[in-house]
Amino acid sequence: MKHILEELEKRREEARQGGGEKRIAAQHAKGKLTARERIDLLLDEGSFEEFDMFVEHRVTEFGMDKNRIPGDGVVTGWGTINGRVVYVFSKDFTVFGGSLSSAHAEKILKVQRQALKVGAPIIGLFDAGGARIQEGVAALGGYADIFLENTLASGVIPQISVIMGPCAGGDVYSPAITDFIFMVKDTSYMYVTGPDVVKTVTHEEVSHEELGGYRVHALKSGVADGAFENDLEALTQVRRLIDFLPLSNREKPPVRQSFDDPERAEASLDTLVPANPNKPYDMKELILKVVDEADFFEISPDFAKNIVVGFGRMDGQTVGIVANQPQTLAGVLDIDSSRKGARFVRFCDAFEIPIVTFVDVPGFMPGTKQEQGGLIRHGAKLLFAYAEATVPKITVITRKAYGGAYDVMSSKHIRGDVNYAWPTAEIAVMGSKGAVEIIFRAEIGDPDAIAAREAEYKARFANPFVAASRGYIDDVIMPHGTRRRIVRALKSLKGKQLQNPWKKHDNIPL
Ligand code: HXC
Repeated sequence: MKHILEELEKRREEARQGGGEKRIAAQHAKGKLTARERIDLLLDEGSFEEFDMFVEHRVTEFGMDKNRIPGDGVVTGWGTINGRVVYVFSKDFTVFGGSLSSAHAEKILKVQRQALKVGAPIIGLFDAGGARIQEGVAALGGYADIFLENTLASGVIPQISVIMGPCAGGDVYSPAITDFIFMVKDTSYMYVTGPDVVKTVTHEEVSHEELGGYRVHALKSGVADGAFENDLEALTQVRRLIDFLPLSNREKPPVRQSFDDPERAEASLDTLVPANPNKPYDMKELILKVVDEADFFEISPDFAKNIVVGFGRMDGQTVGIVANQPQTLAGVLDIDSSRKGARFVRFCDAFEIPIVTFVDVPGFMPGTKQEQGGLIRHGAKLLFAYAEATVPKITVITRKAYGGAYDVMSSKHIRGDVNYAWPTAEIAVMGSKGAVEIIFRAEIGDPDAIAAREAEYKARFANPFVAASRGYIDDVIMPHGTRRRIVRALKSLKGKQLQNPWKKHDNIPL
């Protein structure tokens, strides 16, 4: 009997070794942790339950029959994060570069399906070179099965991908379907194919970093939602993010006891908006001063910085925050900020997370570059996302709300539930200079007349009261009371029920 028990332990130890000591050392030398070390840091201590440790691939070609490693390059199972169940799979780069065989795919599919069935988030830790070349089409089929599960789970359970090494092919397309992608700076890369294949096909010589490093995806393409200094920080931050999210769309977002007074007044907000309407200020200061304990998890902080999105809590309850950032491009809405905002709004709506919007927007970005890039369609994404969202929507206009951007940013007209403005708000078709130069074009040669017209326009429109007189703004509030008013508004909206007309699905302008 004893030797049978010992046999189990021997087999387990063999599986834990993955691709062997040498490859584990190489992994560490690159500043990366192993698949199992990552899981240990991600989950509560001792909570991991592993599945399919003894699964092996079935390939015989290219001498693969003599090269079988238990676990086959991915560690899968479930555990807890601060006591809440999550499913996890972690690619093992030391085993065939973490590449995917059909057996490896079946392991991932098992946890994907289980997570969907029980209603728990799934977190994928990626460090892998795509389809296992020796396996051929069976590996492609395995990926397709995973993509399908990713798609079916979208909007039902949160899906989070962390890119922790060089990732190619299916190991970037599966993350691309998930809700959030995070990268690790200088050790992780995302590309459809790596530099070697690029050189063969297009003769282009390019480094991993230039092709798919975090600077490409967290700053320029927007494919990644953030990048962290190392594996430890990335995993710690994913734990923090999970705390903000519901486990599935069947439940409300978690409420965590807050020690921050919901009535807390912030006198400094009364002077946040500068007297000069063209002077920028940091919208993040407002966010940090309004949310519980200044705890804000920002999504895509380095991409399209003219819009800020992320999660915070108000009196313990998770909210999604969307805010124009006057500090970057005056907070204008352009292609990238519209895409970023729209995706975030849709996530919140899918998972019943109320949306708080802070508005200071001069409009949509004009110009050929934006038009040729399809600003109309991309801008429409944000409009569409806000309009269709049925979760509680609270809006606070701090300064500019001009033109179409006023409509888009969770206005009353697209079912904003509670819309507030600060006394500094300017709600108009456009800024005074532009407006006067159009409607009084004949007077442009006369600077005095134009100045007088501008003053007249400002007095008439550059305030929140025209909108308030029509009921488009529910109240003009003092900046220092913003936290209290939002907390109260959220309470009043707890019982909100709203349904869109039945449809198979909508046709958001993708
Ligand atoms: C089998 C692979 C592999 C793969 C890497 N390895 N990729 N084995 N299939 N796809 C193995 C290597 O042979 C090596 O084995 C070990 O993993 C480490 O790889 P290296 O190349 O030495 O590492 P590195 O220099 O860091 O480069 C990593 C890499 C590169 C960038 C991922 O290996 C690479 O470009 N691989 C191919 C990527 C790719 O094009 N995949 C197919 C995508 S198509 P040893 O034994 O030496 O340790 C795809 C289809 C899905 O995924 C559908 C998408 C829509």
